[in-house]
Amino acid sequence: MNQNNMLQNKQVLITAGPTKEAIDPVRFISNHSSGKMGYAIAESFLQRGARVTLVSGPVCIELNHPRLQLVQVQSATDMYLACCRFFEETAIAVFAAAVADYRPEKIATHKIKKDEDIFNIRMVRNIDIAGEFGKIKTRHQLSIGFALETNDEITHAIGKLNRKNFDMVVLNSTNDAQAGFGYDTNKITLIRPDFSQTTFALKTKKEVAEDIVDAVTDNWLEKEKRLLEESVFDYETMYR
Ligand code: PMT
Repeated sequence: MNQNNMLQNKQVLITAGPTKEAIDPVRFISNHSSGKMGYAIAESFLQRGARVTLVSGPVCIELNHPRLQLVQVQSATDMYLACCRFFEETAIAVFAAAVADYRPEKIATHKIKKDEDIFNIRMVRNIDIAGEFGKIKTRHQLSIGFALETNDEITHAIGKLNRKNFDMVVLNSTNDAQAGFGYDTNKITLIRPDFSQTTFALKTKKEVAEDIVDAVTDNWLEKEKRLLEESVFDYETMYR
């Protein structure tokens, strides 16, 4: 199979956008993710023939395609539960969402009144979606993560690559102008498990998505080659 049709009918799972963690019926904690990066990646995979399940937090982007299954969620817990439904059948997972690491321990039933001068919210850890799938990922699946960093970018990104068992991490930094949250452009560095790195220029998120999908394609071909070599090796040792 050549590189051009390698993604044909491959099942791809993508998380995108922010999560919203409710405080009461009218308030929430969230972040600035617009979903543009994750949706651009979904589009690139679709254009190369993949079947895409896009688990998306609340965003203002519309994407329609016959091979796209869009699952809209609000909270990190919703996003995790949605991903659980699809992970087993997934060949390639891309975790582009900006998932809230914490949520309020309790969601107030009624709108909280401003009676106090200081108001504390007790927060509890959300599940690490990419981290959980990193634990159960098989040798036939690829998991690609993102790292959005403010400092010591490479060190933190490598930490995430290892902790979450990613096959590649896409680093973007808040220190790069016109990159990261909300912009139509991004600037990324791809980091692989052998710590090799490729840094790209500032590009549109559509172009960045193409670079990511190219790298995932290479990654997939390397994995297939490795599995083939291992199976030949197993066969030879079995019949030696
Ligand atoms: O949506 P845009 O406005 O286009 O912006 C794009 C982006 C900046 C959101 C995107 O490029 C990006 O960097 N997404 C990941 C942001 C992030 O939350 O990174 P992190 O370093 O906190 O998380 C590391 C990885 O673990 C990510 O793949 C994240 O999706 C995943 N994660 C994190 C926490 C959690 N509870 N579950 C997760 O799956």
